[in-house]
Amino acid sequence: MNDDILSYSSEKKGIVTSKTTSVDTSKEIISLRPINFKEYIGQNDTIETLKIAIQAAKMREEPLEHILFHGPPGLGKTTLSHIIANEMGKDLTVTSGPTLEKGGDLIGILTNLGEGDIFFIDEIHRIPKVVEEFLYPAMEDFSVDFVFDKGIHARSHRYRLKQFVLIGATTRVGLLSSPLRDRFGIFRTLDFYSVEQLVVIIKRSAAILNTTISDNGAIELGKRSRGTPRIANRLLKRVRDYSLVKSHGKVNQESVRAALELEGIDTLGLTSLDRNYLKTIIDFYKGGPVGIEAIAATLQEENDTLVDVVEPFLLKIGLVLRTSSGRKASEKAYKHFNLKLQKRHY
Ligand code: ADE
Repeated sequence: MNDDILSYSSEKKGIVTSKTTSVDTSKEIISLRPINFKEYIGQNDTIETLKIAIQAAKMREEPLEHILFHGPPGLGKTTLSHIIANEMGKDLTVTSGPTLEKGGDLIGILTNLGEGDIFFIDEIHRIPKVVEEFLYPAMEDFSVDFVFDKGIHARSHRYRLKQFVLIGATTRVGLLSSPLRDRFGIFRTLDFYSVEQLVVIIKRSAAILNTTISDNGAIELGKRSRGTPRIANRLLKRVRDYSLVKSHGKVNQESVRAALELEGIDTLGLTSLDRNYLKTIIDFYKGGPVGIEAIAATLQEENDTLVDVVEPFLLKIGLVLRTSSGRKASEKAYKHFNLKLQKRHY
């Protein structure tokens, strides 16, 4: 058994404790992930806040306060929790909101945490209400109440926990109840990365993967990565394969363009889902405004996928506008598809 990665609960529950690095099953993602603040690029204000909090906690010889990270997928919420555990020299236990079905699932983890250990809950907004209620006293008083029996025979026993650090990650902070949100001492929203930051990340990843990439190649890839390191790293691997097979391993602007065209990624980094979303608003709903439910129904997609995965980047680059009466395609969106903006006649 691997000493670093110790699984103490059922695999089905997806609970993993790790001493050092990652619990991701993909080996390459593990190795591409920065493991300390020095290697981490971007999110400068968040990094500064975390460094100060960690140094202060070490000086006081106290655990960190609970931390909540908010932001679209792939911007580094999980990576940061690994780095924090690494910098604090503590164990990290990883789980996600939907896998915690019953109070017992949570209590089983909490009672196994050591002093100062980091407990990371991804998609914390999807924790069932019954489980969330166990989290309040655990976060605040480091205790959980076990209830034995039912009705008049019910007895409760308070169990003291070690002072752990909860790190929650969410794509939808608005769905978190305020009692839960208020129990986090540190709250940071992660931003999309600039092309320049992605270029540095891409070059670092290329070096780890033993691949050389030209400056223009890295810029082209950075521009098409939707401001997201996870996407940049994933596309880098597709480009690396393409270049090995089609252009003697040379990754340059030309091979990046050709490889990404094959992947259905356009000049702005949009995927076919992004384009279908925009085309639905433009073609089907005459440019909007239209409600998200109507768009989701037309596309036969989940609302949550559109809100969590598709919309944040399209809003960020101004291709879609959110108004009180619904989503609208912007002039820039029409231009991207070489379409004329339609004037609506009411
Ligand atoms: N790989 C993924 N995200 C990264 C980041 N923010 N810095 C460096 N490498 C990364």
